[in-house]
Amino acid sequence: MKKILIIFCCLLSASTYTFAQHTSITIHADQGFRIIPKEIYGQFSEHLGSCIYGGLWVGENSDIPNIKGYRTDVFNALKELHIPVLRWPGGCFADEYHWMDGIGPKNKRPKMLNDNWGGTLEDNSFGTNEFLNLCEMLGCEPYVSGNVGSGTVEELAKWIEYMTSDGDSPMANLRRANGREKPWKVKYIGIGNESWGCGGNMRPEYYSDLYRRYSKFCWDYSGNKLFKIASGASDYDYHWTDVLMNNVGERMNGLSLHYYTIRDWNHKGRAANFSDNDYYATLGKCRDIETVIKKHCEVMDKYDKEKHISLMLDEWGTWWDEEPGTIAGHLFQQNTMRDAMVASLTFDIFHKYTDRLKMANIAQIANVLQAMVLTKGKSMILTPTYYVFKMYRVHQDATFLPLDVTCDSIKADNYTIPLISATASKDSKGVIHISLSNIDLRNTKEVTINLPEIHAKKITGEILTSENISDHNTFEKPDVVKPRTFNDAKLNKEVLKVKIPSKSIVTLTLQN
Ligand code: AHR
Repeated sequence: MKKILIIFCCLLSASTYTFAQHTSITIHADQGFRIIPKEIYGQFSEHLGSCIYGGLWVGENSDIPNIKGYRTDVFNALKELHIPVLRWPGGCFADEYHWMDGIGPKNKRPKMLNDNWGGTLEDNSFGTNEFLNLCEMLGCEPYVSGNVGSGTVEELAKWIEYMTSDGDSPMANLRRANGREKPWKVKYIGIGNESWGCGGNMRPEYYSDLYRRYSKFCWDYSGNKLFKIASGASDYDYHWTDVLMNNVGERMNGLSLHYYTIRDWNHKGRAANFSDNDYYATLGKCRDIETVIKKHCEVMDKYDKEKHISLMLDEWGTWWDEEPGTIAGHLFQQNTMRDAMVASLTFDIFHKYTDRLKMANIAQIANVLQAMVLTKGKSMILTPTYYVFKMYRVHQDATFLPLDVTCDSIKADNYTIPLISATASKDSKGVIHISLSNIDLRNTKEVTINLPEIHAKKITGEILTSENISDHNTFEKPDVVKPRTFNDAKLNKEVLKVKIPSKSIVTLTLQN
């Protein structure tokens, strides 16, 4: 009978546990020296599906409540995340966007076809002014992606002049004529996107030369200092990084990288309907981002030991099949506790590589891929991923504290996945935050956390969990997954005992 049960369990799930140890964590507070740049909590907003139109922007005349055309509900929700940087207008869209079509009186702006994403007709009512004003309202840095694939050097040079020059120059005066007297501050400029693919099908040697040419004419105006980002590799393409580092070198301030949690491009799977093995294997694929970051960093180290050039992971996240009944090419997907786990595990990894990794932008902010918010008409829901960003915002600009984790793991596909993931940091006021994820679908974990050198007296916590890993919020039931107060952590001098339920993410705050 026992044997039958074991065979049955194996058939049910292809994942296998490796039971080894008692779960313990040691946090090395004395070894913290590096700041976690807040920019790794960045967002990405592309003209794709209803990310911009319907998601961020409805226009001033909409009956959906708005602040100067931006959806009020979405704006207020995003404000809570303390977004450090927002990338726009793409993605693939960036390389067919002509910025001059998106300025001036809205009724005079030409319409355009969004060929990459479903051939949707757009009216260009959201353009440069609307984007940069939104960034100011959110208090975040804009990251503008320039068009190299189908644009010109002149077009990009003039765009920068339009946005940042305070002189009596043609583009600055055009901006003034469009109602904006003072230039905006624009720090990050991308020179193309995925130039090996949708950005122009280029070879790295050819793109390197184009980068050198385009970036030459990206001038710093009126005290604005541009941080220039070259279009980088995807996933495991280390050759692209090698050629760029060799041919471009310090002409770039940053080199981008894209990594999506997709196990099979032809069978991505449903967002909210998956097996236990799919779940664990997805987390295995998600964790593989660590290998990818490490190897790209190794290539960069070969040319740039001093780490002058930053790695910018400006697209990451889950990518599932589009929800049935939605518009093809609009990449609208649901978002479950599994997506929340992908976010927490990914941040735990990012925190370890910030000597080189200086920015990351989840794809995307609204209604597209692993979104923060989903909207339908006048309704908006917050996703489990949104809550991870909210719970993890305490780590922005805090000092990273290295830690060791000893725990059981599980095997799924070719991955071995530790069942506990964790990260810790100390903020500028000396407050320690520890984030823990128990990815186990069945078992509560009793975790012993050793805190040498940390003399905390007070502990509070928040937990994100749900009955089923596929649980998600819907327009009918918007509060299925949301954080609650967490009380299952007991502090005894330098030892913390935490009982963390299966499939849950906890952030603890330790204060004196
Ligand atoms: O985020 C969706 C798309 O994924 C982006 O437009 C492109 O850069 C990537 O392939």
